Amino acid sequence: MNAIKKRDILITSALPYANGDIHLGHLVEYIQTDIWTRFQRLRGHDATWVWADDAHGTPIMLSAKKNGTTPEALIDSVKIAHEKDFTDFQLSFDNFHTTHSEENRQCVETIYQRLRDGGHIVVRTIEQLYDPQTEMFLPDRFVTGTCPKCKTAEQYGDACESCGTTYDATELLNPTSVVSGATPIMKDSEQYFFKIENFDAMLREWTSGEHQLQPEMRNKIQEWFEGGLQDWDISRNKPYWGFEIPDAPGKYFYVWMDAPIGYMASHLHLLKGDEEAFNKYWGKDSTAELVHFIGIDIARFHTLCWPAMLHGAGYRTPTAVHCHGFLMVDGAKMSKSRGTFIKARTYLDHLQPDYLRYYYAAKLNNKVENIDLNLEDFVARVNADLVGKIVNIASRCAGFIVKNFDATLAAELPDNALYQESVAASESIAEAFENREFSRAIREIIIQADKANQFIADQAPWNLIKQHGEEIKVQQICTLGINLFKNLVIYLKPVVPDIATQTEAFLNCEEFTWSDLDTPLLNHKINKFKPMITRLESKSIDAIVEASKQDLATTNVAEATSVAAGQAGNEQLANDPISDEISFEEFAKVDLRIATIVAADHVEGADKLLQLTLDLGGEQRNVFAGIKSAYDPSTLIGRQTVMVANLKPRKMRFGNSEGMVLAAGPGGSDLFILSPDDGAQAGMRVK
Ligand code: MSP
Ligand code: ZN
Repeated sequence: MNAIKKRDILITSALPYANGDIHLGHLVEYIQTDIWTRFQRLRGHDATWVWADDAHGTPIMLSAKKNGTTPEALIDSVKIAHEKDFTDFQLSFDNFHTTHSEENRQCVETIYQRLRDGGHIVVRTIEQLYDPQTEMFLPDRFVTGTCPKCKTAEQYGDACESCGTTYDATELLNPTSVVSGATPIMKDSEQYFFKIENFDAMLREWTSGEHQLQPEMRNKIQEWFEGGLQDWDISRNKPYWGFEIPDAPGKYFYVWMDAPIGYMASHLHLLKGDEEAFNKYWGKDSTAELVHFIGIDIARFHTLCWPAMLHGAGYRTPTAVHCHGFLMVDGAKMSKSRGTFIKARTYLDHLQPDYLRYYYAAKLNNKVENIDLNLEDFVARVNADLVGKIVNIASRCAGFIVKNFDATLAAELPDNALYQESVAASESIAEAFENREFSRAIREIIIQADKANQFIADQAPWNLIKQHGEEIKVQQICTLGINLFKNLVIYLKPVVPDIATQTEAFLNCEEFTWSDLDTPLLNHKINKFKPMITRLESKSIDAIVEASKQDLATTNVAEATSVAAGQAGNEQLANDPISDEISFEEFAKVDLRIATIVAADHVEGADKLLQLTLDLGGEQRNVFAGIKSAYDPSTLIGRQTVMVANLKPRKMRFGNSEGMVLAAGPGGSDLFILSPDDGAQAGMRVK
């Protein structure tokens, strides 16, 4: 094998919010990061993985309040739970910090000051809701009122929990301040904006690089450039849970300003404040690699805001931002009522991490695609591959070596060519791991496993051992089998670290590295074989799904009632009686049209909305639809649906909504948009 030039790589995953449990969706990203990081280390590179909890923002402040605790106490306890989940999933991070730390405050202030001194911060006055009694500006969640759409009372200022509509706090009917009960008024507020457009040229250059972004991300960003880079409001009024802006008392940094800086802060914490070591990675002329793993939903922050902030503050820009899609379970978005919204802890209560790690690896590639955890396929796949093909090799060979040959491997191999073939696969497998084509790596590894199994089946040591004088041959065959197994485990080590550790112990080896592929173990004592992993039983999966349903039945009343309604037969009409009769003329006023969804995106800062571009066959409409909890935008593109085409446009915080998409269901993940039969054309009237 050629000597590989040692690389210094700093790796991050997106920071989980510090007010929720880790679930299998997060783990797609964190396992992806871990496999890549472990692979780099296995190859001898210096790979450091730093991340943190994302501990600021209004939702965390509110969660704390709801639980009768302080934000500090909440984020401390969540951090402990998160870190335990991660460690138990065998994630090999070097540091897991928090954005609510002195290191982060220091980094945020430095970056802010440098951006301000560089002329990249502007202060502008905008109108916001204000509580005249307590004399404070009200964040969306601090205002309640009647939903302008379905007229349900006591809804928050950002979205209606009853009908799912998202709106601007100023649109609520009868708005009330949560703090004092007073009626809010509109008042001018000074906000601090980061002028991203100052970085237009720099960002265009950075994003056009060959390695920074995946091709589909480069295209996406092109659209954002065409839309124009708007000033980004990085400030929030008090009360806010975050860092106060140094030269602006009562103003706080928006959570998305300090969150990515948390990567730096975690690194600085790992380095115990060593500026020189820090600059080796973050300095403008750094030759180290900086690699971020993120989900598609937060791409804009990481590909525009973050590189611009870094550059504007005199730091280096990322080497790469790797973006992944979303986790589906059995082809649909994770659903609490179906029991497929599975928490990391619920999984760990029933199964070892290696099963899921292997399955994700077998599914992941370097595209921004959703990955599907098909529960039946999950069981079949890990049993067929890990148990049936990999561990099986050791279990077929080890017994003979231990029992008949004093647990000692033979002095030579019966077929050196086969061993060399297994070594020769390394280049292509390494390339697949390097390029994050994990599914290809797994395919190629399994091809090697098939060859090893074929060899053992052909040689049938269990028959040979009965023939007099063939003992040496049996020892050699099993020695080759064990050595092929060793190489397979080295290849799989980034993916299934538990199996790898057990194999190292079984084979009496130091920690495997990639270069251990080259040399077969000969004349070498091994230990008694114990299966590193056993068959995955479907009943474990049933138990996980059941536990996930139970888990949420207690915490989510709305979901629970919808499940109950489903189980008790059709109680839809009883719960939601049919409305008063209308005349045909009244109905005909509603202009329903077939529309093709030509674009679908998340909306920055909106929890429930997706932004859709609907094509009516000649005319395009921008519509904000409250269906984010049920649909991944990428699955909507190209679909036809039905829209209300003559609804008066509504001005929302995010832009104009020019129509409405029809959907059924109680909300949350149970929302179902309509589709016409094949043959319908965009623009056709529905009547
Ligand atoms: N706190 C922000 C990230 C700040 S990074 C400076 C955030 N947190 S999150 O908890 O919502 O998500 C963390 C990461 O997990 C994101 O990259 C997100 O894309 C990913 N995932 C969360 N749910 C996911 C799925 N269901 N499927 C795949 N990835 C998912 O965003
Ligand atoms: Zn409503």
